[in-house]
Amino acid sequence: MDTTPEKLYLDLLKKTLAYAFWPEPPVPLETFNYLRPPVKRRFLAFVSRILNRYGFEIVEQYKETSFEDRAEGKIWPVKAFTMIGLKRLDNLQYAVETVIQEKIAGDLIETGVWRGGAVIFMRAVLAAYGIRDRKVIAADSFEGLPKADVEKYPADQGDPHHIHEYLAVSLEEVKKNFEKFGLLDEQVEFLKGWFEDTLPHAPVERLSVLRLDGDMYGSTMVALKSLYPKLSKGGFCIVDDYGLKGCKMAIDDFRREQGITAEIKKIDWTGIYWRKD
Ligand SMILES: C[S@@+](CC[C@H](N)C(=O)[O-])C[C@H]1O[C@@H](n2cnc3c(N)ncnc32)[C@H](O)[C@@H]1O
Repeated sequence: MDTTPEKLYLDLLKKTLAYAFWPEPPVPLETFNYLRPPVKRRFLAFVSRILNRYGFEIVEQYKETSFEDRAEGKIWPVKAFTMIGLKRLDNLQYAVETVIQEKIAGDLIETGVWRGGAVIFMRAVLAAYGIRDRKVIAADSFEGLPKADVEKYPADQGDPHHIHEYLAVSLEEVKKNFEKFGLLDEQVEFLKGWFEDTLPHAPVERLSVLRLDGDMYGSTMVALKSLYPKLSKGGFCIVDDYGLKGCKMAIDDFRREQGITAEIKKIDWTGIYWRKD
């Protein structure tokens, strides 16, 4: 076991960000109430409001999730700061530590940050090793996913992600989350807006870690087209959603179009990465 202060801090942080020390709590009724039919939704919201007034909360107890499922980020968590799970956090640590050790130039970006856990962790790795000359960039609408643009990206036809209010986390909340860990400073930048609008002109010169977590074909493709050319040789391209049909198709299309043959390494059931040749 590596017991250097840096490794111990990062290990503790990963488990905290993933809420791995504690059992997954029951899901408050409000969290997914938007998925219920309108009459049931309104009725439950009404009952819930009354109960809240008396200090009670309605929660749903789903069947217990195994440690392995949580480590592989297979659930949409109630409290965790990230949904990517411990294995993908380990991979992210490996990527950031490697670009530092091998002096691969460039900033670190995640496209699709949700509550911010993965970008908080990137900033923490830089802090742990005293790295002052790299930025962490958090790109997101901070409003959830867009409706599919089927004309441009037919592969996104029928994609339901945009209905999920659960995936919409405001910029203020993400900043607060950074603050909770004492990691909000001038090395962190936020790029707010739809990827189509922000990424093609992102104020980024060079990247060493490009972490894609936008779930859909369009969100993945626009991030690749805009940012992959800025990734340094030896830099990491990490894909969170290769287990999702649309994202996989975007990755496969982009690699084929660009003639990318670098070996794809598997992280877990959905995460993959490769290093740029
Ligand atoms: C699955 S969540 C990301 C999870 C996060 N990386 C974590 O550590 O838990 C997907 C995020 O991508 C963002 N997103 C997806 N497509 C987008 C787009 N086209 N423009 C802006 N934001 C987008 C959503 O707002 C959401 O926050």
